[in-house]
Amino acid sequence: MERLAGTRVLLGVSGGIAAYKAALVARLLVGAGATVDTVLTRGAERFIGVTTFEGLTGRPARVEVWEDVASETHVALGRAADVALIYPATAHVLAKLAGGLADDLLTTTLLAATCPVVVAPAMHTEMWQHAATRHNVEVLRGRGVLVVGPDDGVLMGGDSGPGRLVEPDVAVDAVVAALMSAGPAERDLDGVRLLVTAGGTREPIDPVRFLGNRSSGKMGFALAEVAASRGAKVTLVAGPTHLTAPAGVDRIDVVTAQEMYDAVMGRVDEVDVIVKAAAVADFRPSSTATSKLKKDAGVPSIDLVRNPDILADLGAQRGDADRPLLVGFAAETDEVEQAGRDKLARKGADLLVVNDVGASDAGFEVDTNRVLILDRDGTRSEVPLATKGEIAGTILDAVGARLRG
Ligand code: PMT
Repeated sequence: MERLAGTRVLLGVSGGIAAYKAALVARLLVGAGATVDTVLTRGAERFIGVTTFEGLTGRPARVEVWEDVASETHVALGRAADVALIYPATAHVLAKLAGGLADDLLTTTLLAATCPVVVAPAMHTEMWQHAATRHNVEVLRGRGVLVVGPDDGVLMGGDSGPGRLVEPDVAVDAVVAALMSAGPAERDLDGVRLLVTAGGTREPIDPVRFLGNRSSGKMGFALAEVAASRGAKVTLVAGPTHLTAPAGVDRIDVVTAQEMYDAVMGRVDEVDVIVKAAAVADFRPSSTATSKLKKDAGVPSIDLVRNPDILADLGAQRGDADRPLLVGFAAETDEVEQAGRDKLARKGADLLVVNDVGASDAGFEVDTNRVLILDRDGTRSEVPLATKGEIAGTILDAVGARLRG
């Protein structure tokens, strides 16, 4: 948040019901010390008024391109901005940005902006999943635009699914990340074929119960998102999660450790890098009841058998070859560095990312993490508390360095 102090943020608001949340974003940005210039589309103005933004930011909020023409507002705001956030970004605004159209103040401003741009899409699921929108998002991503969200959740009119605007604090974190990257995303992973596993596996006990863990998939999805924005061709093998796959990423959904094993092993020859961020169950019930276990029948005893260790098998299968590059994770609570070093050697990985899952602001479920990256060459690098997107960026820096030898 300190990174926002003294910066000039262009807040673009386009016309969706979630536009009301942009007022909270303005308040967070101003509270963090940023100067905020707000530009609304005419559609946004139907949902929220300029007065709200003028009151919150202490600055004029604008809609019309034909006002104050002598000050060249249509290019001046874009030129002056250190970062731009479009929150919410409708399908229509994404299409206009992708096509370079400039028919109102927001789009002329963005065409004149040379700063990092963050877009937070919000729309109904069908619109988000439409090929045209996916294409537009890919075009924007290819230009270095940071796409944050959308989430999977409740939408307008009782609908539910991918397309929900990310919460204000998540958008502000993305603005900070964009400022820190200071410019369009690098394309240092252009053409690299990267497979990421994310989330936890579920090992069924009966048709309604399973053994699982707390992994939300956030760390793995952040890796997929950042890798794709840096040019990688990403395959995301995901356990059950409500997260939406980043646009352009090839998603394969799995449930059990065995399904994840099959999905990964079947693609080993097609990828250059495998990042194992998933929390894979080490054990599964030796058998799955075909009907629901009745509690009247007493407490069942469940025999467990070992699941295959995907990372260890990848390491063993690769042997002395240098591809695919293998990146493991370790979720530890005690003597984390030593435990991580042991896992790095035992599983035959090139890099091992250790997170202390005993901390409340790191590891499972939360939006932040704090990791130690261990390299098989003996070097180590501590990455302090940051968003999972930022942590993903640092891990991918280490991957890129290894790929370049
Ligand atoms: O999903 P989030 O809520 O964002 O949380 C992120 C995370 C804490 C899950 C993630 O950062 C993390 O630490 N992932 C690895 C968790 C884990 O399973 O650690 P482990 O120490 O049990 O396993 C070590 C490595 O072996 C991991 O790369 C794991 O994917 C792999 N493994 C483990 C068991 C198994 N049967 N097969 C495997 O491939």
